[in-house]
Amino acid sequence: MKPLAAFVREHPRFVVAHRGASAVAPENTLAAINTAIAAGIPMVEVDVQLTSDGHVVLFHDRTVGRTTSGRGRMHRFRYSELSTLDAGEWFDPTYRGERVPLLEEALRLLRSAKTYASIEIKPPAEGENLPTRLERIAAVVEQCQMTEHALFSSFHHESLRLLRQILPRCHTAAINIPGDRRAPSEIARAVGCEAFVCSLRECTRWRVEDALAAGLYVGVYTVNTVAQLERVLRYPVTAIVSNNPAAIQRELAMRATE
Ligand code: G3P
Ligand code: CA
Repeated sequence: MKPLAAFVREHPRFVVAHRGASAVAPENTLAAINTAIAAGIPMVEVDVQLTSDGHVVLFHDRTVGRTTSGRGRMHRFRYSELSTLDAGEWFDPTYRGERVPLLEEALRLLRSAKTYASIEIKPPAEGENLPTRLERIAAVVEQCQMTEHALFSSFHHESLRLLRQILPRCHTAAINIPGDRRAPSEIARAVGCEAFVCSLRECTRWRVEDALAAGLYVGVYTVNTVAQLERVLRYPVTAIVSNNPAAIQRELAMRATE
């Protein structure tokens, strides 16, 4: 598998599965990742947080109620408790039995399928030790030999700055904090990142032009419909992040042959 840097140089535009193929399978589960892999999506985005006993898991929300059979704050769960919750039935009964995966399981799956990982580090919970948290995330990625095949992103820019000290070879992308009017180049200078990610609403000409002039790659989330894709295609955006990546990839392929 090529390092991510080489892949991006050779692919000026590609689709990223947002939380896995989260429109068709429960987000941040192995089923959602497998669905994206089966559709040939080159990169899968996942959200990561730590359990109370320091396991790195795929999880988006602060609380477990929306996407599992449990209740309560995610970071208060030990992994042995969290892993007993059902993480699929809320989405569709056919996914009953899906569990909250460890980052390690997700990365092993992605690596064996030669698929890149986009790892969004969620902001730390109150009282969490930030360096320890990042060291644990970095250790998993290193162990799985995915450092050169992963992009780390975050709304919590301090996490990215610190991560680069722990893992100097890592690739990072700052996600625009809603309401932040700073130029991408200014954000990137402060963070030391090589890519900039923003929402579809924030994807405006001035932002994209500023990012490109600063040599940054740009990613946009979430692009789920043809109308949304058309908006993004006005700009030279590299990563198109979608809940329905197979449909968006098909649409792009169709346009390329027209
Ligand atoms: O890729 C960025 C996107 O994943 C950020 O938003 O809330 O889906 O994690 P969210
Ligand atoms: Ca995310």
